[in-house]
Amino acid sequence: MGKYIIEGGRGLYGSLTIKGAKNSVLTLLAASILTPEKVVLHGCPDIGDVAVMLRILRKLGCKVERTGDIVEIDSSGLHSYKIACDPAKELRSSVFMLGSLLSRLKRAKAVYPGGCDIGLRPIDIHLAGLRELGVTVGERHGHIDCDGTNAEPADIMLDLPSVGATENLMMACVFLNGVSILRNCAKEPEIVDLQNFLNAMGAKVRGAGGSVITVEGVKRLHGVEYTPIPDRIVAGTWAIGAVMCGGKLTLENVIPEHLSSLLAKLPKSSCKIYPRDGKITIESKGRPRAVPKTETMYYPGFPTDLQAQMTALQSVSDGTAVIVENIFETRFRSAVELCKMGANITVSGNTAVVRGVPELYGSRVVATDLRGGASLVLAAAAASGRSEIDEIHHIDRGYEDLAAILPQVGVDIKRE
Ligand code: UD1
Repeated sequence: MGKYIIEGGRGLYGSLTIKGAKNSVLTLLAASILTPEKVVLHGCPDIGDVAVMLRILRKLGCKVERTGDIVEIDSSGLHSYKIACDPAKELRSSVFMLGSLLSRLKRAKAVYPGGCDIGLRPIDIHLAGLRELGVTVGERHGHIDCDGTNAEPADIMLDLPSVGATENLMMACVFLNGVSILRNCAKEPEIVDLQNFLNAMGAKVRGAGGSVITVEGVKRLHGVEYTPIPDRIVAGTWAIGAVMCGGKLTLENVIPEHLSSLLAKLPKSSCKIYPRDGKITIESKGRPRAVPKTETMYYPGFPTDLQAQMTALQSVSDGTAVIVENIFETRFRSAVELCKMGANITVSGNTAVVRGVPELYGSRVVATDLRGGASLVLAAAAASGRSEIDEIHHIDRGYEDLAAILPQVGVDIKRE
């Protein structure tokens, strides 16, 4: 539980170093069991979702050690194919374990996955893909029971470019005897990261970043030491914060290209952006002008995981903005909380109309989900006066302790 207390109204000055991407680290942890040899991941953020994933791995029989940002996984003692109920319910990534468990043990059993309450999150594309590979998939009493004894390579067309399904199927194919082809794949940078990680372990995966991925089966994979890509969503959150609060903020350890769709949307009238090798500096002053329209899309489009933060920015911008959410249907829940701070937002279906107000004021608000929670932190930092944000366990899922990080750049934030 716990809450953040924020005294708003200060600019963001200084620099923040971005750690490994949550969505890469979670997937690479799932992939780490593809080899019984040791896997070492650098730059792992200390966040709730990673902690849950490490618990899942331990319950399956892996030895997991964390030293600062380095996580070591030794899955030589992997003895179970049943993903433990409690942690798996909390975390959607547990479903990504289906592919890697099937590859390693030919069996996998999981509960229907949890994650943020941001709309219906079906897993039909994951399961259809596994069935195409010849995996027997039983669905009963909220459990998914997979038997991959007869799995074979296949040519699979995904209904939608689902990130999780693309990753799951890549992992499910690595040991199949022949070449598997995945079509209509997600193109997110985290998919490329998974390909690079698997290939560093000895796999033969090609095409990630494009819509067709081929996986040529190999006999075994070996241990690896690897640094996941930096978190483009965390970086994007603070970039938006710099525009909302004003100041001069440098984000270290970023891949500017991964943030292109956001950077293109930041209002040039009130901020200057300096992308350099592995860094971005955002210098901002004055009230930002509204961005007329933002629509979330699959990568390289505008990420749904930055939609709530963009909505917060528009709430204090000059003019009217329309925000369309195309990926997850109920992802505007934090707009109600922003309105408690004085924002003027009308939501209808998957569209929000945001009429910018000159100022937000500090209030008591509740984080309803991970990214919505982050948008409230930004709003509170930009608002005048004191805000209390409750239910911050949602924020902890994807952001390290903000009361330790944000004071470095001048935000007055405490955790209670
Ligand atoms: C991943 C990210 C999440 C991000 C999302 C979209 C992780 C751990 N999470 O989630 O932060 O918001 O990508 O960029 O990497 N769909 C189906 N059937 C399926 C699977 C998905 O209909 O079997 C639909 C979903 O409802 C959604 C769309 O496809 O509308 C995209 O979902 P997907 O790309 O699968 O998101 P996740 O992998 O769950």
